[in-house]
Amino acid sequence: MEKEPIIALDFPTWEETEAFLQPFQKESLFVKVGMELYLQNGPAIIEKIKAKNHRIFLDLKLHDIPNTVKQSMKGLARLDVDMINVHAAGGQNMMAAAREGLEQGTAKGKRPILLAVTQLTSASEDQMKREQLISVSLEESVLHYAQLSKEAGCDGVVCSVYEAAAISEKCGSHFMKVTPGIRMKEDQANDQQRVADPKLAKDRGSTMIVVGRSITKAERPLLAYQKVKQLWGGMSHVK
Ligand code: C5P
Repeated sequence: MEKEPIIALDFPTWEETEAFLQPFQKESLFVKVGMELYLQNGPAIIEKIKAKNHRIFLDLKLHDIPNTVKQSMKGLARLDVDMINVHAAGGQNMMAAAREGLEQGTAKGKRPILLAVTQLTSASEDQMKREQLISVSLEESVLHYAQLSKEAGCDGVVCSVYEAAAISEKCGSHFMKVTPGIRMKEDQANDQQRVADPKLAKDRGSTMIVVGRSITKAERPLLAYQKVKQLWGGMSHVK
């Protein structure tokens, strides 16, 4: 288990990101850069965050034909991020191609950890059945995608806290379970469906948790981060 919760930097500009990071100067963070920040600011945003010595999960959820994903991953690996992902729905060949691209693009050091998104934590079982015409349960669908992604060479999956234990059983405890949809008890779920608090994530065997709005929209983000961290890892003391 990684002791730092990953903070989702869902901001539109570098100025807002930098203002948010200001109170965290003494912390070594693991942050997530998603489509909102990356697509509006480009690869330069990665350099700027790395200059602050934070680790980066580049959450672009690639989903395209295998060759396009492979070539894109080759380029993205050169940014020297720590973790990156694809949609498992893109298929086993696409996931294997993503890994190949990462290996080819990693000049020195360790290639980025490769994760596959199973079912988004914003999706409900009813929605999955209605819109994707998947007739099995949401958990079965997630487990199937987890197995496929393991066979394709991914290091783990993005899933909800509620599927983490079953994935460990099926794919082994070392196969990573990175879980978004984290909320403190007092927070709103917003667009997320399968939410859980950091303590439950820990009890259910998440490897890492991703926390966005519960920290970024908090009145005092540093305090909110420390509270999440305490519940998650029982580490830093919150006054
Ligand atoms: O604000 P909140 O904590 O809901 O943010 C969750 C973050 O995790 C968002 O950046 C979202 O894109 C991402 N994410 C997710 N569900 C997935 C994969 C990524 O919510 N399955």
